[in-house]
Order: sequence, then structure tokens, then C-alpha cells
Amino acid sequence: MATACKTSVAAAAAVLLLLIAVAVAPVSASNLTAYSVVGCTGNNITWGCGCYNFTGYKGGYFFNYTAGQVGLFYFNTGCRGLYIPVFFRVRYCWFHIFNSVKILC
Ligand SMILES: *[C@@H]1O[C@H](CO)[C@@H](O)[C@H](O)[C@H]1NC(C)=O
Ligand SMILES: *[C@@H]1O[C@H](CO)[C@@H](O)[C@H](O)[C@H]1NC(C)=O
Ligand SMILES: *[C@@H]1O[C@H](CO)[C@@H](O)[C@H](O)[C@H]1NC(C)=O
Ligand SMILES: *[C@@H]1O[C@H](CO)[C@@H](O)[C@H](O)[C@H]1NC(C)=O
Repeated sequence: MATACKTSVAAAAAVLLLLIAVAVAPVSASNLTAYSVVGCTGNNITWGCGCYNFTGYKGGYFFNYTAGQVGLFYFNTGCRGLYIPVFFRVRYCWFHIFNSVKILC
């Protein structure tokens, strides 16, 4: 009886920890800063989860990859067609061929 009770308490605690982990995860989500002028200068904008066009911000990017949040770099706008998955931190400050990016969360 006592053992069964302890087991269910442990299980409940494990579930709780899991919920906390899920709730905390978005805080450290990958994000991407895009720049309007080549050399990673000019205006910048930072994006979190979702799909964004590079329109107006094609002067470089910094993709701050954090565990699990992969970035898909698309050749087309609107996150359509071919893409390259990026699962590492990358800073690129020159003209690039991508027109949109989707950060998966
Ligand atoms: C970018 O990521 C950092 C660290 O995870 C976070 O503090 C910040 O709020 C994020 N910014 C956006 C716009 O998602
Ligand atoms: C990149 O993300 C990490 C982890 O969230 C954060 O500690 C770091 O400050 C970020 N770097 C920049 C330049 O935003
Ligand atoms: C973005 O632009 C602001 C305003 O010019 C600047 O203060 C900031 O350092 C820039 N952020 C990055 C990550 O380059
Ligand atoms: C990106 O651009 C395409 C084509 O102009 C447009 O259809 C789409 O709504 C835009 N998406 C975002 C997230 O701005």
C-alpha cells in the first residue's frame, strides 16, 4: 500500500517536471536577427518561432540556434519550396540567396 502510494507520488512528480520543462522550453528558443545592410549593419529585426520573409533585411543574418529549434532557410518567399535545414549557430554578413526562413518550435 505504502509502496504504491510512493510510486504514484514519484510518477506525479515526474509528470510535473516534464510540464515545467515544456513550459520553460520557449524561453531559450532559437531566434534569428536579420540586417538591412550588408556587413550585418543598418536596421535589424529579431524573429522567433514562425515564418518570415527576408524582404528588406537581406544584408546578413545571425541564427542563434538553441537545442532543437531548427531553422529552415528557403530560396523562395513565404517558406515555400526548397529549403536548407540549419541546426547550428551561424552568422553570415554578406548577400545571400535565401528569401524566407522558418524557425520550428
Ligand atoms: C531570442 O532568444 C533569446 C534567448 O533565448 C530570448 O531571450 C529572446 O526573447 C528571443 N527573442 C525573440 C524576438 O524571440
Ligand atoms: C544566443 O542564445 C543563447 C541561448 O539562449 C544566449 O545565451 C545568447 O545570449 C544568444 N546570443 C545572442 C548574440 O543573442
Ligand atoms: C540592432 O539595432 C539596434 C539599433 O540600431 C542596435 O542598438 C543593436 O545593437 C542591433 N542589434 C544587433 C544584434 O545587431
Ligand atoms: C512573404 O512573401 C510572400 C510573397 O510576397 C507572401 O505571400 C507571404 O505572405 C509573405 N509571408 C510573410 C510571413 O510575410
